[in-house]
Amino acid sequence: MELITIAIDGFSSTGKSTIAKQLAKALGYVYVDSGAMYRAITLYAMQNQLIDIDCFDSNQLIEQLNSVEIGFSFNESLGFSEVYLNGHNVETQIRTLEVSRFVSQVSTIPEVRKKLVEQQQLMGQKKGVVMDGRDIGTVVFPDSKLKIFMTASAETRAIRRYDELIAKGDNVVFDEVLENVKSRDHIDSTREDSPLRKADDAIEIDNSNLTHKQQFDMVLDLAHQILKKEA
Ligand code: DC
Repeated sequence: MELITIAIDGFSSTGKSTIAKQLAKALGYVYVDSGAMYRAITLYAMQNQLIDIDCFDSNQLIEQLNSVEIGFSFNESLGFSEVYLNGHNVETQIRTLEVSRFVSQVSTIPEVRKKLVEQQQLMGQKKGVVMDGRDIGTVVFPDSKLKIFMTASAETRAIRRYDELIAKGDNVVFDEVLENVKSRDHIDSTREDSPLRKADDAIEIDNSNLTHKQQFDMVLDLAHQILKKEA
C-alpha cells in the first residue's frame, strides 16, 4: 500500500494532536508532534536562563543551538512517542503554561525553525507520517497529499486547555489561559518566518461544534479516499 505524509495544522488547542495521534494509529503511521520540538527548545532556553518575562537572549540561543539535541522515543504503554531534550525525557515539563508563555517567541527565530524543519523533513522522508504543527502543510511538507487545517473559537480552545491543565493538577486561572491562547494566535500568525496560515490546498475543519468522533471520522475518511486514489 502506498504511504503518504499527512499534515495537520491549526491554531493552538484545536485538538490537532489528539486527532493526529488517533489517525496515525488507525493507519499504522508514525505520529510526530512538531510543537513538542519547539517546546523542548523553549525549555532549554528557560533552563539556561536565556529567556524569562522581560528578557530573551536570542543570540545566545542561536549560538548554542548546535548543543541542543531533540529526539523522540516511542513509549509502548502510552502508545505514542515522548520528546527528549539532550537525552532527558521532557514530555511532562514541556506542557506547562510557563513553557506555553515563551514558546511562540522562541518559534519566531529563523535559525530555530531551520534546525527543526530539517529534522522534521528527515523524519518524513520515508512517508507514513502524520505530523501536526503550524507550518507542516505550508513549509515542512508542501507536497503532502492530505493537509488538514483545524480551527475553533479562542474561547472554545481556552476552555479545552484550561480543563486539561486543571485535570493535570496545574493551578491555573481561566483568563490567563485565554490570554495565552489569544497571544499565541497573534504571534504564530503574524511572525515573519513561516506564519501560521492555511495552505491553499488544505481542508479546513472548524471543530467548535463537532464531537471528537465526528472530526476523527471525517479525517479518517479523507485519508482513506486519498489512499484509494494513490493505490
Ligand atoms: O502545538 P503546540 O501548541 O504544542 O505548539 C507550541 C508552539 O510551537 C506554538 O505556539 C507555535 C510553535 N510551533 C511552530 O511555530 N511551528 C510548528 N510546526 C509547531 C509549533
